[in-house]
Amino acid sequence: MNLTLKVWRQKNSNTPGRFETYQARNVIPDMSFLEMLDVVNEDIIARGEDPIAFDSDCREGICGMCSLVISGIPHGGHRGTASCQLHLRHFKDGDTVTIEPWRAKAFPIIKDLITNRSAFDRIIQAGGFVSVNTGGTPDGNALPVPKTDADRSMDAAACIGCGACVAVCKNASAMLFVAAKVSHLNLLPQGKAEKDRRVLNMVKQMDSEGFGNCTVTGSCEAVCPKEISLSFIAKMNRDYGVAILKGR
Ligand code: SF4
Ligand code: FES
Repeated sequence: MNLTLKVWRQKNSNTPGRFETYQARNVIPDMSFLEMLDVVNEDIIARGEDPIAFDSDCREGICGMCSLVISGIPHGGHRGTASCQLHLRHFKDGDTVTIEPWRAKAFPIIKDLITNRSAFDRIIQAGGFVSVNTGGTPDGNALPVPKTDADRSMDAAACIGCGACVAVCKNASAMLFVAAKVSHLNLLPQGKAEKDRRVLNMVKQMDSEGFGNCTVTGSCEAVCPKEISLSFIAKMNRDYGVAILKGR
């Protein structure tokens, strides 16, 4: 199959960007979207030009590095699917596909399709951890965890930190990401000691990074490759309210 690609090219954050048109010729439907970009880059390199810069690592939906807005939708709009898991069989021969980076003030463009998502790292550093004394491995049964809490915590922990929720949001809100990271620890007994401090510090860091407010449109949940539920935002808001009241 053949595709026409309109790809955002931008040298760095200080240089204006533009769409460039490329042809993906004789690509096969079972290729992943990133493999198709590899093939296009081989052609570009053979012509002596600068290849398209894009992020990837695991290429199996685990690491959160792939970050492409494909025809206007972060990760391309297939439920529970990261850009690296998207296959060309979802496109038609002859389609024109636009490829852009995440667009949010808190994610400045580094080059082409690569953005700087270290704002997420700083939010995690503000509270996305538990402080424990190191020592011998404790008995697995020493700290009982209700099954419902364990399941819900695991659902939140599935967040891969890709940033699609920010990219799709009209307010560039990071609430779904932060809610997932706060909740996966706050739900467990191991996370209780730092529960209040965690939610206050992570929300404070989120605000200082320039992410917008949540107006509950739900677009974040719709594009999230791990289908993180909006209900975690409600849970984080409750944890935040309780922490504020306790502080008073
Ligand atoms: S909540 Fe979903 S979309 Fe947002 S960073 Fe986590 S995995 Fe990505
Ligand atoms: S490259 Fe790791 S999630 Fe896509």
